[in-house]
Amino acid sequence: MSRHRILQLCPLSPVLDRSLSECFEVQAWWTQDDPAAFLVAAGAGIGGIATSAQLGVPGAVLDALPDLKVISSRGVGMDKIDLDSARARGIAVAGSFGTLDDCVADLAMSLVLDVMRQVSAADRYVRAGRWTQARFPLTTRVSGKRLGLVGLGQIGQVIARRAGGFDMEIRYHSRRPVADCAFMHEPDLQALARWCDVLVVAVSGGAGTRGLISAEVLEALGPQGYLVNIARGSVIDETALVSALVERRIAGAGLDVFADEPNVPQALLSLDNVVLAPHMGSGTHETRKAMEDLVLANLQHFFEAGTVLTPA
Ligand code: DGY
Repeated sequence: MSRHRILQLCPLSPVLDRSLSECFEVQAWWTQDDPAAFLVAAGAGIGGIATSAQLGVPGAVLDALPDLKVISSRGVGMDKIDLDSARARGIAVAGSFGTLDDCVADLAMSLVLDVMRQVSAADRYVRAGRWTQARFPLTTRVSGKRLGLVGLGQIGQVIARRAGGFDMEIRYHSRRPVADCAFMHEPDLQALARWCDVLVVAVSGGAGTRGLISAEVLEALGPQGYLVNIARGSVIDETALVSALVERRIAGAGLDVFADEPNVPQALLSLDNVVLAPHMGSGTHETRKAMEDLVLANLQHFFEAGTVLTPA
């Protein structure tokens, strides 16, 4: 029996790459010398795509696959997949929903704790032998402080649960209040920024949230306020953020995502009030395995039953 042809857009993991090749006839897009010519020559008949949230599906790839029926992405971010076009063409799109919320929320709390208690800065201090010369400066208490959440989706809700364990008071901003939610909805993002001690960004990326954390929001957060972003770099006006941090117009930031990954603004590298992470929210062995299993399971389920398990 002939196997379904899928296009894999990037290496995912040795185990998943092997499993995909065992189950499907895989065309590895990223290894092609001339990817555009390859798509013209071999695009017809390709029924599925395996990709990652960070890469998504370039528009030119989507356009070049007339027989595409399913996209399975490792990750939950859909900001690099044109969902409207996919929907219009009847292409099913699946993400790793339900697998990574805990780990991304754990990282969000790590960044809250690190930037407010200065754990990474203290580590650098000890390693540099500076403890023998002077006491490390005092830091900022986390327990009992006010946490403002931008976005109360799956990940935001887990962050709120974690923050509750630190006796933090929580309010959130989203387009609409979340039904049956114990936390106060704040329709005005600047008011939320003004109210909170730490603003945690956990909203989806894409056109609808681009630049949401603007210079005005940062100004409202103010010199005592911290910012944590585990969502997408695009959600923040990065130029405004860099100058707010350099000029200490906000207290600090914990950042796992950036506008132009893996490039991080040079000005941030020397700042002790910033904790920098390499987009690693879901990057644990356990969660990555669950995400990768789901990339495969979604494709298999689609080709057997015509639907994906975790649709976008
Ligand atoms: C996601 O799933 O969107 C993560 O941020 C990885 O890109």
